[in-house]
Amino acid sequence: MRDHDGVPTALEVRGLRKSYGDGFTALDDLDLSIPAGSLFGLLGPNGAGKTTLIGSVCNLVRPDAGSIQVFGHAADTREARALVGLAEQDINVDRFLSVRQVLVYHAGYFGVGRREAVRRADEALELLGLTAKAKVTAPELSGGMQRRLVLARALVNRPRLLILDEPTAGVDVDLRAEIWRLVRTLNDAGTTILLTTHYLEEAEALCDEIALIRAGQIVDRGTAVALRAQYAVGSIADLYQRALAPVAS
Ligand SMILES: Nc1ncnc2c1ncn2[C@@H]1O[C@H](COP(=O)(O)OP(=O)(O)OP(=O)(O)O)[C@@H](O)[C@H]1O
Ligand SMILES: [Mg+2]
Repeated sequence: MRDHDGVPTALEVRGLRKSYGDGFTALDDLDLSIPAGSLFGLLGPNGAGKTTLIGSVCNLVRPDAGSIQVFGHAADTREARALVGLAEQDINVDRFLSVRQVLVYHAGYFGVGRREAVRRADEALELLGLTAKAKVTAPELSGGMQRRLVLARALVNRPRLLILDEPTAGVDVDLRAEIWRLVRTLNDAGTTILLTTHYLEEAEALCDEIALIRAGQIVDRGTAVALRAQYAVGSIADLYQRALAPVAS
């Protein structure tokens, strides 16, 4: 799919289905299109399918049906993988590598040469305020610092589509503000961003468009202003009540 300027959409998801082993349907014929250059928010309650969707885009989850394209490339191709950076919800970094090594090795997975990988690692450490911690291992970092490291790691392949799964969960006020600044700066420089959050206020402050997800389906999308007006809500609690209440079974 291409948008009206002929630019491939950053992410094009069609008819995506995923049931887990126990028969639970996590994604139920989900469609989602994210324009190139967008700062896009995905909002929905626990268990709605956000991380499963992201996992499918990043080849961590194998969907049962549907198609996913990243800038016009099927998600499971090398081309698509090279274009995506992911900061996972669960912080999972090698316990035995130094912070700098985590980044250098990650760049290596994308075929970046050693010298350039070190350069990019140091650049990402600087950007995320981790330079002083370059030589320690991940377990020696605080929770917020580990979040910084996961964000830094998502940047070393210079992704055109950056996916942040609850990047501000459990971080302090300063780091939240820093993450907001970083996200805006990257987006201004042309990086398409998909982020999940549990805060309408955050999505409203950051995102140019939001999709609401519930029970594995996109129930609505639009600007925060339009969604607030459409559902006549002032708070996330009201939005969950009106738009995202559990489907009666
Ligand atoms: N590996 C798995 N095996 C079985 N079920 C899973 C697995 N991963 C996710 N699920 C189920 O799929 C549903 C969607 O989970 P998912 O993690 O995608 O939700 P989410 O929207 O990211 O929620 P949260 O806001 O809590 O992170 C949940 O009911 C969850 O229990
Ligand atoms: Mg999740």
